[in-house]
Amino acid sequence: MTEQMTEQMTEQMTKPTNLGGSFTLPGAAMTVNRMGYGAMQLAGPQVWGPPRDVNGAIAVLREAVASGVNHIDTSDFYGPHVTNQIIKQALHPYPDDLVIVTKVGARRGEDKSWLHALSRQELIDAVHDNLRNLGLDALDVVNLRVGGIMAPSEGSIEAPLTVLAELKRQGLIRHVGMSNVSPQQLAEAQAITEIVCVQNMYNVANRNDDGFIDDLTKQGIAYVPFFPLGGFTPLQSSTLDAAAASLEVTPMQVALAWLLQRSPNILLIPGTSTVQHLRENLNAVTLDLTPEMIANLDSLGGGPRQA
Ligand SMILES: NC(=O)c1ccc[n+]([C@@H]2O[C@H](COP(=O)([O-])OP(=O)(O)OC[C@H]3O[C@@H](n4cnc5c(N)ncnc54)[C@H](OP(=O)(O)O)[C@@H]3O)[C@@H](O)[C@H]2O)c1
Repeated sequence: MTEQMTEQMTEQMTKPTNLGGSFTLPGAAMTVNRMGYGAMQLAGPQVWGPPRDVNGAIAVLREAVASGVNHIDTSDFYGPHVTNQIIKQALHPYPDDLVIVTKVGARRGEDKSWLHALSRQELIDAVHDNLRNLGLDALDVVNLRVGGIMAPSEGSIEAPLTVLAELKRQGLIRHVGMSNVSPQQLAEAQAITEIVCVQNMYNVANRNDDGFIDDLTKQGIAYVPFFPLGGFTPLQSSTLDAAAASLEVTPMQVALAWLLQRSPNILLIPGTSTVQHLRENLNAVTLDLTPEMIANLDSLGGGPRQA
């Protein structure tokens, strides 16, 4: 074995010990490492039914937790039910520091479509489905998912959020977050109950929420971008490729490192169904992007950010 090969193997085996630093959710005794894991990819194709390799899915979850991940994002409408059942099978009884964040407000149609499910009864049922399938007495954080996938749609969130606030008072939910929301909807939500996190679509190439993120940073609220790697349309860019080549890493790792340096309240939940991609993603916390790389990557989303 050559010296270079030994070095490469040691590098692959070395696990990042500091997963991007940590963040404490506002008003909550919950501190999570900034690099987490999104469990949506653990269901079958189109997030429907069981995965082809259940043991592989279990291995991804166990490797994530063994590597220090203590923030897992999920929902009972992934599968439906399947993803939560796999999380329970892989990790229950859960480590004390593990924060499982779930979301309600949607359901799956028979044709695998994603439909709103925001009525009082649907929300109550969804919370109980999550409790049962995760094997929990109370849910750490529940995001109320409203709006469209690609962008929020304006409209009052009072009725559905009032239901979650009630379930919080009953002790079934510890903390509440919002997903697919606008700044106006967040403000409306904050008058009803404390909001600890916002989960919207955002990545190096989709930067509609730049101003919103800056506002959430000031408020100390976590921003958890979904589709950090582009989701169903993986990010592709010569700028990402160039930075990756010069750091001898992958473009996806650069995309995650860019998010980590973007703002201290950004928490990452990249999704993957493979241990290899999980390791790659976790190792993104070790990257140091140069100011020039950051400026080039900033320009992908339409130019440098306004301070
Ligand atoms: N609130 C919402 O409405 C909403 C919507 C969507 C998602 N989410 C949450 O956000 C999380 C993240 O989103 P996402 O999983 O949809 O999208 P993502 O993290 O942007 O991308 C996942 C895709 O990237 C691939 N991938 C992952 N790591 C990779 C790597 N190192 N190299 C190459 N390809 C890689 C995955 O395939 P492999 O399996 O082959 O790795 C998968 O196809 C989800 O798990 C879910 O919890 C929330």
